[in-house]
Amino acid sequence: MYKKRFDGRKFDEMRPIEMEVGILEQADGSARFQIGKTIAIAGVYGPKEMHPRRLRKPDRAVLKCKYNMLSFSVTDRKRMGPGRRDKEIGLVMNFALGKSIMLDDFPKMGVEVHTEIIQADSGTRCASICAASLALAHAGVPMRDIVSSVAVGEVGGSVVIDLTKKEEDHPDGATDIPIAYLPKDDELTLLQLDGKIKPANLSKAIALGIEGCKRISDLQKKALRKKYSSS
Ligand code: CDP
Repeated sequence: MYKKRFDGRKFDEMRPIEMEVGILEQADGSARFQIGKTIAIAGVYGPKEMHPRRLRKPDRAVLKCKYNMLSFSVTDRKRMGPGRRDKEIGLVMNFALGKSIMLDDFPKMGVEVHTEIIQADSGTRCASICAASLALAHAGVPMRDIVSSVAVGEVGGSVVIDLTKKEEDHPDGATDIPIAYLPKDDELTLLQLDGKIKPANLSKAIALGIEGCKRISDLQKKALRKKYSSS
């Protein structure tokens, strides 16, 4: 049984979170999101003309999310270029963010979201979703609400929030459940599960994740307000 977390946190405690809106000059919207040692940056381009033209949708904009983990972001140098994992996370981000955006306000157009992981200690897809959602808001893309995301799971039999890589590699086993949440609609827009978990612990983990997302959502809104009050 996992009784005390490696970094001394409580089971329901997330790592320190920092974020900043408007970090890139050339993007229409941008943000940095850091949770513990995991750092994601996001740049949004659009809504703009959709290329290639054959992928245009007559009634709405197409959302394209790209996720990339830089070679030096992990302990073992990661091979450059998009692998299967990067492509999968790009698709996952599309699902998680797509619901929040008023895509039908922009027929035939495209919205591009690029995220880069510059340092990874688990939870990178969640950090990317949080950074991307801030960057979309900064780009002025109409949204129902900001999407928040965090991973929950089970480590050595205990339900925890915001797993580190060391926890994911726990010798007694770990289950990682990234979730994304739209607070306004009280709706999960992402729920993945990597591993096994008892049904009772799954409900407990999801409830913990929703609480975490609500706290992140407050911080995201604070970061956006800070950006606009300073400019
Ligand atoms: O990052 P996330 O938890 O969303 O996804 P994952 O595929 O479960 O990866 C967990 C962690 O493994 C990453 O955050 C990295 O810290 C690490 N990892 C790595 O060291 N090298 C890779 N090529 C991929 C992931």
